[in-house]
Amino acid sequence: MRIAVIGSGYVGLVAAVCFAELGHDVLSVDSDHDKIALLRGGQVPIHERFLPELVNRHRGKRLCFSTSVTEAVDQSDAVFITVGTPQSETGEADLSFVEAVAQEIASAISDFKVIIEKSTVPVRTCESLRKTLLLNGARPDSFSVASNPEFLREGTAVTDFLYPDRLVIGVDDAASASLLSSIYRPLTDGSYYRQESAIPFVGYAHAQAPIIVTDTKSAELIKHASNAFLAMKISFINAVANIAEFVGADIEQVSAGIGSDSRIGTKFLNAGIGYGGSCFPKDVQAFRVVAEHCNYEFGLLTEVIRVNAEQRSRFLKKVRNALWTLRGKRLGVLGLAFKGDTDDIRESPALEIISVLLKEGAYVCAYDPVAIPKAKEVLDTNRIFYATDPYTAASGCDAVLILTEWKQFAQLDLEKLRSVVKHPIVIDGRNLYRPQEMARAGFVYHSIGRPVAIPECMSFDGESDSMHRESAIRFATTG
Ligand code: UDX
Repeated sequence: MRIAVIGSGYVGLVAAVCFAELGHDVLSVDSDHDKIALLRGGQVPIHERFLPELVNRHRGKRLCFSTSVTEAVDQSDAVFITVGTPQSETGEADLSFVEAVAQEIASAISDFKVIIEKSTVPVRTCESLRKTLLLNGARPDSFSVASNPEFLREGTAVTDFLYPDRLVIGVDDAASASLLSSIYRPLTDGSYYRQESAIPFVGYAHAQAPIIVTDTKSAELIKHASNAFLAMKISFINAVANIAEFVGADIEQVSAGIGSDSRIGTKFLNAGIGYGGSCFPKDVQAFRVVAEHCNYEFGLLTEVIRVNAEQRSRFLKKVRNALWTLRGKRLGVLGLAFKGDTDDIRESPALEIISVLLKEGAYVCAYDPVAIPKAKEVLDTNRIFYATDPYTAASGCDAVLILTEWKQFAQLDLEKLRSVVKHPIVIDGRNLYRPQEMARAGFVYHSIGRPVAIPECMSFDGESDSMHRESAIRFATTG
């Protein structure tokens, strides 16, 4: 199959590369000349596992890059739209990039094409897409429109694409259904998984990728509702964490207990400093506006957004409680990206928290395995320094803050960490350690939805005042 993918951002680039991996001839298009030049030269502009290998495997063979939508439409049977749908001032998705691409496609169509919307868009976008194509001169019999939402997560995007929980295809006609089914056939008939060169993935639950074929509006709703539901799960567990913290329960155990009900599931029940990234914050807002346009006030989503924002301010309160005043204090910060395994800092809770700490007069020494260059572009101040490893970041610090759930931050050499800090205080916004373990290593350990852990050997004057605003447990120190 000849496929064009218009937009080479996270979704578009991963989709283009994976379509080539499935055996199709793909033209990946972007209006950014520099990005296309980079990709043509074999460089990958985003940090994503398996992407460099796959670009290398297919570039110049089944995968080519271009800046021309006309060329792409001309050479393809299927045209995927994967341009950005950023949040507008009103909270709704700004679809002007999608519209602009649709206008270009319309003037380039000569024979029959299926135009597939893959970006996250509000319900009824396919309808508008169809109208725009017609208004801009495409003949009604020269195209059909379909929806094929993407559920990939940054960091695991390639395996999410190739080993999906489900594929969703929204079609309103037989031609689109047949074309999209054949594009994904190597996954739905399982033949891709039997290839020796297949990208590996351990523990895939299916021999063949499940596929849901539905109408375009339902497919569009599936995407928005899925993201909103996941965000709701996170805000729900964060709200419960705040109760757990007050009564001295342990949210990790509560979460495991709730999640072991198969109707609920353990995933996306990690309490922390709230969700961030390029999708959840914008998609939950946009879905709320979609509801408004349908004369439905989705108050539940308003609350999801409120709880998420509150998690950041509660964490900042924790930092103030632990340190008393912030002016002139030196904080070692572990994590800048919005989550582990990515260099993406968009809507990162870490960055939001750091900005407030800097405003309140603290010095920050930050470390992140890959997100430092991007953070440097936005955190412009002379009170932030960047370290080359976690221990240098923590060196001489009044407290260490964990803000991103990188695996390596969960495996620190605690003895080494203890030896470099000025004061042994860790404030963990991602619950990467067991409180007992941290106290045994000699740290006063604050986390989310769990009592503060204090080494038995330590006692503070006025402890009951500041420390006991959260419940605290003492643990014997080893060594
Ligand atoms: C998300 C969706 O998961 C994906 O299906 C969709 O296509 C795009 O949006 P992504 O933005 O890459 O993917 O990140 P995800 O892994 O979902 O995490 C989102 C945020 O939630 C991160 O900030 C993460 O730290 C936070 N999170 C996640 C929690 O705070 N707790 C959890 O239990 C899970």
